[in-house]
Amino acid sequence: MSRTADEVKTVPITSEVYAYLVAQAEPPTAVQRRLIERTHALGGPAEMQIPSEQGVLLTLLAKLVGARRIVEVGTFTGYSTLALAEGLLPDGRVLTCDISEEWTSIAQETWKEAGVADRIELKVAPALGTLRALPVEAVIDLVFLDADKPGYLAYWEELVPRVRAGGLLLADNVLYGGEAVRADAKGNGLAIREFNAHVRADNRVESVMLPVADGLTIARKR
Ligand SMILES: C[S@@+](CC[C@H](N)C(=O)[O-])C[C@H]1O[C@@H](n2cnc3c(N)ncnc32)[C@H](O)[C@@H]1O
Repeated sequence: MSRTADEVKTVPITSEVYAYLVAQAEPPTAVQRRLIERTHALGGPAEMQIPSEQGVLLTLLAKLVGARRIVEVGTFTGYSTLALAEGLLPDGRVLTCDISEEWTSIAQETWKEAGVADRIELKVAPALGTLRALPVEAVIDLVFLDADKPGYLAYWEELVPRVRAGGLLLADNVLYGGEAVRADAKGNGLAIREFNAHVRADNRVESVMLPVADGLTIARKR
């Protein structure tokens, strides 16, 4: 397939380009660096942590929408939660959902260290139940989806009605390592592919997919 004129404009992300673009964002704080190291020591699961430049983007987006209420699905060791909390208005709160006591205990220690623990409510339970129990009022300013991929669609359906007009829904891993692009995608790749098609067809939002890390969709509620 030949490259279109617009495709040619998109710079391939070589190691050199990646290092350069990372260097253009605020570097991680000492607390964030310690969390990155602690998470790295977990081995394989560490790849679930968002990269630092994506953290900067989350903080920025939270500030841009003047976020008071944020809901995150997928806490892990708390890097993205910390980034979101840093973007809150002074009286704002993040509700974050995960099923792992082990990973979220690292998160809780880190939030205390960073001085944001009082702005974060953690629910350790399958996220769908937590979301269904939220009042059906359109008061959420920002949502970040980053948990089990087959759950995204159900989380989306619970959360879109609860986001205020002009609020944002962000979904991570929407390229799923490139698997979501394939018509024969299976498993998580297929789940993400179906989620992406659902978002694209959803007239309640306007959205764009960005090649940030593993792919990030930004959707604004109409
Ligand atoms: C990709 S990680 C989240 C990474 C995190 N946002 C960060 O930047 O460090 C996905 C998380 O989703 C959690 N998870 C998986 N299934 C879940 C479910 N049904 N409900 C809530 N959390 C779930 C996992 O325990 C895991 O910590």
